[in-house]
Amino acid sequence: VTVAGEITVSGRTVIVADKLTSQFIPAGFSTERTLLVERGEAAKSLASLESLYSRFLELGVGRDWTVVGIGGGSISDLAGFAASTWLRGTDSGFVPTTLLAMVDASVGGKNGIDFGGYKNLVGTFSQPRFVQVDTALLASLPEYDLACGLVEAIKHGWLDGEDHFSLVEHAVAKDGTIDRTMLEPVIRASITLKATVVNGDEREAGDRRRLNLGHTIGHGVEALTGLAHGACVAVGLAAALQFAAERCGPVAGDSRVLRLLERLALPVTMESARASSIKTNKMSPPAFREAVAQAIGNDKKKLGGHMLFVLPVALGQVRIEAIDLDTLRDFIRRAP
Ligand SMILES: NC(=O)c1ccc[n+]([C@@H]2O[C@H](COP(=O)([O-])OP(=O)(O)OC[C@H]3O[C@@H](n4cnc5c(N)ncnc54)[C@H](O)[C@@H]3O)[C@@H](O)[C@H]2O)c1
Repeated sequence: VTVAGEITVSGRTVIVADKLTSQFIPAGFSTERTLLVERGEAAKSLASLESLYSRFLELGVGRDWTVVGIGGGSISDLAGFAASTWLRGTDSGFVPTTLLAMVDASVGGKNGIDFGGYKNLVGTFSQPRFVQVDTALLASLPEYDLACGLVEAIKHGWLDGEDHFSLVEHAVAKDGTIDRTMLEPVIRASITLKATVVNGDEREAGDRRRLNLGHTIGHGVEALTGLAHGACVAVGLAAALQFAAERCGPVAGDSRVLRLLERLALPVTMESARASSIKTNKMSPPAFREAVAQAIGNDKKKLGGHMLFVLPVALGQVRIEAIDLDTLRDFIRRAP
């Protein structure tokens, strides 16, 4: 991973981007080898994967080529998956253009697409050859998207402890404005934490599961509301803090997370997530909770009637427990 620097690409390279992130492709790069896909989550479809494979075939993309994804997490997930499956694996490289992709999605080697209504159902573990981070690319990113990206940095801060967490806190002013000049150290700390965890457990057989903090309930909320990933993880993180408090007693540092998320104007309750999505704001609150509870049961990380749940027990400390699915669903039905 390199932070900052010019994007230089040469010869045997294809670039995957969307209409917006194609502005970051270096001038003069071959339009033939520029592959545009839909913006956002829609990029992670079988249809866009097929369109990439078709172009790879036409261009004669070989094992010695590099597939470069320039964009947010949707682009890196798709480009990485296409690269890791083409000819049983070609190189990939990412230039993340959203904060979420810089602090999280572009690092760690999880690639994939959505299928049958489920996120990331089909995918690979395959590390990119390089990740090039340049915070200048965030200039055009709306404040809300920046806030959503910061949620994964907050999660990393929680896992890492006081120094890292306070670094993220200091990047957010009391009025919720994000100090863009503070983002580079935040991104560095996030990448370091994630890379360390992934190096120890690339295939998520143990310690890497910690990175799922906030994602179990968050993914359920995302499946229903379609709100931004970071906004849903904010709800999932707040819910996990409450669940941990119920099971394990007071959670040191929980109010700091809630304050930070609230300052960023992110939802921290199931109810605010329901009300702020056009897909769910007509549902009754109990019907919404029930639907989220059911969606969680469908999550692919389920083990029989149990789920591995990451409990945030104190700042810098989590505990992973197999939680009975009925217990978790009961909690969701009564969570705020
Ligand atoms: N592989 C992983 O480890 C991992 C981790 C976290 C999230 N993800 C995945 O990442 C995806 C979400 O990624 P995301 O939040 O980066 O969003 P995204 O890639 O879905 O992009 C969202 C929108 O932002 C626009 N955009 C991108 N860069 C911009 C810029 N600099 N200025 C203005 N607009 C810009 C895009 O055109 C797009 O419309 C989800 O699919 C999630 O599952 C993957």
